[in-house]
Order: sequence, then structure tokens, then C-alpha cells
Amino acid sequence: MGMSVTISVATEQDAEQIFRLQYLCFQSEAALYGNYRIDPLVQTLDSVRQEVASDCVFVARLGEEVVGSVRGKVTEDGAAAIGKLCVHPRLQGHGIGARLLRAAEAALVEERGATKFRLSTGHRSEGNLRLYRRSGYETVGRSKGADGVDLIILEKPAGTYAQTA
Ligand SMILES: CC(C)(COP(=O)(O)OP(=O)(O)OC[C@H]1O[C@@H](n2cnc3c(N)ncnc32)[C@H](O)[C@@H]1OP(=O)(O)O)[C@@H](O)C(=O)NCCC(=O)NCCS
Repeated sequence: MGMSVTISVATEQDAEQIFRLQYLCFQSEAALYGNYRIDPLVQTLDSVRQEVASDCVFVARLGEEVVGSVRGKVTEDGAAAIGKLCVHPRLQGHGIGARLLRAAEAALVEERGATKFRLSTGHRSEGNLRLYRRSGYETVGRSKGADGVDLIILEKPAGTYAQTA
């Protein structure tokens, strides 16, 4: 890509950039579903700050600029819920999304003892589904998000994260 994008744990100072970035990145999803009330578009800056403080949050950086992000947290059943993966539209298609996903998976296993990973995406988001399947995820079910979008739920056992990294 001719420039170096680094992946690291998000700090408190990154919350505002993550907030702006997700608002930009999820416009394409909102357009796809004709729904501008999807969770990443209505989440408050305060809520992003809380997630940065308590969850496993990674950012991709190009110099000082946050150009990608992902979050994950371990739920009651030991599965890690991964979400809000996003990469700046001008930098998509260079593998940054896949790198962010691998970083979150590794930390969720090594630091938080996740036994499996779970994520979901809108049923029409074919690019997202390709990325997740290529990363070893398989469809386990469907549900309807609070925003009304039909979701496909995918999982991968945590034991396999090293092989697909
Ligand atoms: C989903 C998202 C995070 C993916 O980020 P990304 O950095 O583009 O992801 P990757 O680059 O790893 O993979 C995307 C594509 O680029 C391709 N790619 C990866 N590295 C590449 C390289 N070096 N050269 C050429 N193509 C490459 C991948 O094969 C993939 O191709 P495909 O779409 O044909 O399957 C990004 O598209 C995004 O922000 N979307 C909007 C928000 C969203 O929907 N998030 C997911 C919520 S569930």
C-alpha cells in the first residue's frame, strides 16, 4: 500500500476520532438498508468513551489519524462479541479490516479468555459476509436488530484464531 498503517489498542484520546470514523464508515450500510438509525450512527460519543474504557478496542492508525476500529467484549456465555468493525472508505480493500479483526480476536483470547467469537452483519452486506467467512466464521443463525435490520450471526471457535491469522 506504500504507507504504514499500524494496529494498536485504543486510548481514551481516540474516542472522538472513533466516533467520527464510525459515523462516516457506516453511511454505506445505512444506505444499503435505507435506515439511518442503525446503532453505529446513533451511538453517542459518551457511549463510545465507555466502550474504549471497558471493552477490547483496537484502532488502525495512519500517522495521527484513526483510519479503522473494532471492538469486542466477552459475554456471559464466554463468547466474545465483536462489532463495529470499520475502515475509512478511502483505505478499504487493503486488508486493514482483516488485520483489525485478527488483533481483536488475539486480545480477546489472550487477555479475556474468550472461548469463541461472535459477530453479526446485515443480511445484504455481502462484502462483510465474505470477509468474515474468509476469516473462518460460519453462519449460526439469524436475528432482527433493535434497528429493524435482519442480521446474520456468525461464529468461530477461539481455538482456531491462530491458524487463520
Ligand atoms: C467491512 C470493512 C471494515 C472491511 O474493511 P477493509 O479494510 O476494506 O477489509 P479488507 O481489506 O480486509 O477486505 C476487503 C476486501 O479487500 C480485499 N483485499 C484485502 N487486502 C487486499 C490487498 N492487499 N489488495 C487487494 N485487495 C485486498 C479483500 O480480499 C476483500 O475483498 P472482497 O470484498 O472481494 O472479499 C469496511 O468495508 C467498512 O468499514 N465497511 C463499512 C462498515 C461496516 O459495514 N462494517 C462491518 C459491520 S458488521
